[in-house]
Amino acid sequence: MGVMRRFLRHAAMLLAALAAATPAFADPPPETPVRDDGLISGYWFASPETRAIQDDEFSNPGLLYVDRGALRWREPDGAAEKSCASCHDDGVETMAGVGATYPKVDEASGALINLGERVNMCRVRHMDAKPLETESEPLLDLTAYIMHQSQGMPMAVTIDGPAAPFFEHGQALYNQRVGQMDLACTMCHDQRVGHYLRAEHISQGHLNGFPTYMMRWGTMASPHRRFQFCNEQARAEPLPINHPDYNALELYIAWRGNGLEIETPAVRR
Ligand code: HEC
Ligand code: HEC
Repeated sequence: MGVMRRFLRHAAMLLAALAAATPAFADPPPETPVRDDGLISGYWFASPETRAIQDDEFSNPGLLYVDRGALRWREPDGAAEKSCASCHDDGVETMAGVGATYPKVDEASGALINLGERVNMCRVRHMDAKPLETESEPLLDLTAYIMHQSQGMPMAVTIDGPAAPFFEHGQALYNQRVGQMDLACTMCHDQRVGHYLRAEHISQGHLNGFPTYMMRWGTMASPHRRFQFCNEQARAEPLPINHPDYNALELYIAWRGNGLEIETPAVRR
């Protein structure tokens, strides 16, 4: 089948899936907590099977990353022969609540950075070590470990002061129609929440479970890898991981979920 025909078929299927306006579903399930702020964790849009895997500490594969992260935390690396623990002691205390505030403006550079970039900054600035590759297991181990120390705490990013211009940019990106399907994030994650897109329920698109274990890939994924996947699904050109636009988008999305309890490691299909 030619590229164009395949595209048209894909486009028609996606539009048909989105147009199925009456949500013929039972999710989010009746036990979904009703909050004054109207926020619903993506957990409640996952299938009961997937939720059960997330809930079970013996079968949640994300916890392997967290456990490895705890070990890496104490492993010296780089020319300075330091480990994360050399400066941050036991991450359980020093990192409690930290992940909830990312992405955040780095004072030294003035740039908006995500948690993975923050980890690599410490490696380069403070350990004389090489940055870890984006989406690599060691980096995901550390970000999962750090985020896990905020489990149960509310998302709490700051959007004023130096973060304000990044926030505004992120908000514009969230509402901007892109790609061959001419879809904006908001058209799915606000306007079609609860509708089926193929086998999945569209959630509010929150970040409170990230990095998240993706069963389809057999690996954890950062928020940016999820954005790439959403872009691809809507036939828009994905950006590279750590692109400033994705950081701005991440700040805006994290803010939409401010107050939502962190669940890392979440599990998704
Ligand atoms: C065509 C509809 C569609 C569009 C457009 C779309 N997404 Fe998604 N998105 C999905 C689906 C389906 C999922 C998987 C089910 C879920 O968790 O919502 C998802 C999942 C997510 C998640 C993970 C939520 C969780 O709890 O694990 C985030 C974050 C997200 N999208 C962000 C975005 C961003 C940012 C954009 C715009 C760049 C975007 N999406 C555009 C359909 C879409
Ligand atoms: C030599 C000391 C040192 C080492 C080693 C070090 N850090 Fe840091 N870290 C800092 C300092 C100092 C800051 C504050 C920001 C700055 O000055 O760079 C910081 C900030 C952070 C922050 C942000 C805290 C916040 O409140 O936003 C995180 C997360 C972090 N480090 C993680 C790590 C990880 C993970 C490692 C190991 C890979 C590590 N650090 C290794 C000194 C260190």
